Amino acid sequence: MADATVMEKIVSLCKRRGFVYPASEIYGGLNGFWDYGPLGVLLKNNIRDWWWRNMVECPPIGPDGHPIDMVGIDTAIIQNPKTWVASGHAGGFSDPMVDDKETKQRFRADHLWGAWCIKVHDVVHDDPWQEVDVTAILNLDAYAPNLTIVASGVGEAAESFITELCKTARLEPLEGQVEGPFNPVGGTAAIIVRNKKEKMRKEVWGIKNIPTAVLNDRPQSIPSPFTQKSGALTQPRRFNLMFETFVGALKDESSKVYLRPETAQGIFLNFKNIVDTTRVRVPFGVAQIGKSFRNEVTPRNFIFRSREFEQMEMEWFCHPDEAAKWYDFWKQQRMDWWYSLGVTKENLRFRDHAADELSHYSRMTVDIEYKYPFTAPDFGELEGIAHRGEFDLTQHSKHSGQKLDYFDQELQLKLKEQGASPEQIKAKSRYIPNVIEPASGLTRAVLVLLCESYRQEKGRQGTEELLSLLPRFAPIKLGIFPLVNKDGMPEIAQKLYLDLRTRFTCEYDPKQSIGKRYARMDEIGTPFCATIDGQTVQDQTVTIRHRDSMNQERIAIDKVGHFIAAQIAGE
Ligand code: GAP
Repeated sequence: MADATVMEKIVSLCKRRGFVYPASEIYGGLNGFWDYGPLGVLLKNNIRDWWWRNMVECPPIGPDGHPIDMVGIDTAIIQNPKTWVASGHAGGFSDPMVDDKETKQRFRADHLWGAWCIKVHDVVHDDPWQEVDVTAILNLDAYAPNLTIVASGVGEAAESFITELCKTARLEPLEGQVEGPFNPVGGTAAIIVRNKKEKMRKEVWGIKNIPTAVLNDRPQSIPSPFTQKSGALTQPRRFNLMFETFVGALKDESSKVYLRPETAQGIFLNFKNIVDTTRVRVPFGVAQIGKSFRNEVTPRNFIFRSREFEQMEMEWFCHPDEAAKWYDFWKQQRMDWWYSLGVTKENLRFRDHAADELSHYSRMTVDIEYKYPFTAPDFGELEGIAHRGEFDLTQHSKHSGQKLDYFDQELQLKLKEQGASPEQIKAKSRYIPNVIEPASGLTRAVLVLLCESYRQEKGRQGTEELLSLLPRFAPIKLGIFPLVNKDGMPEIAQKLYLDLRTRFTCEYDPKQSIGKRYARMDEIGTPFCATIDGQTVQDQTVTIRHRDSMNQERIAIDKVGHFIAAQIAGE
């Protein structure tokens, strides 16, 4: 569903039915923070448990046909601050920020590219900044004479955007270089800037970085998005995204620590512990689910980008020669996992990161993207699968002084058998493992399931809205209703509830009309309702109502538990 109001309806349903509330709402809320209500926490936990089950308890079969090795971990949110110096977060994990000198509003410089190329932007998308003179702004030669601007993209929107852009700015379209579709919300790179004079990608910017560069050089060339005035913006300044706090009684530099911005580093810090204390051997993975915190400059789109969120990350340690194989393996495994949540293929896609978009640690990254209502017809990030090489273990080894390399005894024996020389054996069998990292957001997965399952259907009883969640993920699996609150029906319904409540989440509800009770269950995604009526008293059967089709079938009351359990298991 692509229309913008769909998102408003989903947010409203989430509030009305107890999925997600603004955090500290009675005090006016706190931007970028959300509370998960009684149903939201059930949905979130169901996704979390499915990830853990498929990643740690029952991990996939590897490319060689054998089950792979995987363990779980739960590390501290606050680690020694040297961690973040080694990981690069203390130095590099920052956004370029710009202030409007008049209104004192602050925002991300890389979000200004919409203003920068507004006229061409208008061709394909509506935008509030309509007064900008794009011809002047796009006169890039003036500030970057050595640079050639190359535009590329896929999709109709991207093509018309690029055609216009090339016309206005005298750019040359680059064939065969596909950087992903033009995405005004997420800022997917659609333009590459290359230093052609020196015949190398020495200075390469993605579209997101162009406004920063322009502002650094000519701050007056981009008008304020608030007042439209030129010269109103400051030059970009770096702003670190990590939340700081202090450990102990003293508040000074020596006691400063950070809330983790990703769960991954806790895994790298424990690499040696895990190798020394468990039976796993390279290749193996370590998985973790937990909260992460980023002082995002522009939290937005409901729970899509928040300042406190949950991640599900796995670090796969492997021999450097095998990293490419495992990258491909995890890429496909992760996409298949999203399908298993009931997300349709047409709403998911892979998008490779362009070289200029890669994080400081990454050699190669592919995103799994979802078509959110607020990005449609384009896609936005859901999960990243990164080839981190030996970056993290090398960095932590350097900064901690600890050896974090790995001696591969199996490989040593194999090479001996193959007749390799002692030098070859030594060189090959001691190494710093490479890491392949599938990193996804649990809270973003909640958003995806809400968007994917949300339906508006006319002609339904009591409501036109429903969440068509797979039974496995539905917060409540079964509603149990006496048709009327008399004639022995409540007693039978209560007994059924007491029998089943230990096996799965069910709700007993004797109040209101049956239509209203069904409507509420539809809106919260309950896949089945069992109604106890006059016939139940006679023959011990109940009606089972199916949420999506609204069809009803009669089954024996003692078979209800088995029926629902089979549906949850997807049998
Ligand atoms: N360890 C690598 C890492 O953290 P990332 O792409 O920054 O990579 C991984 O984050 C995933 O975490 C993202 O794909 C997204 O699903 C989720 N995520 C990141 N920042 C988020 C935020 N501010 N709010 C909600 N989810 C976020």
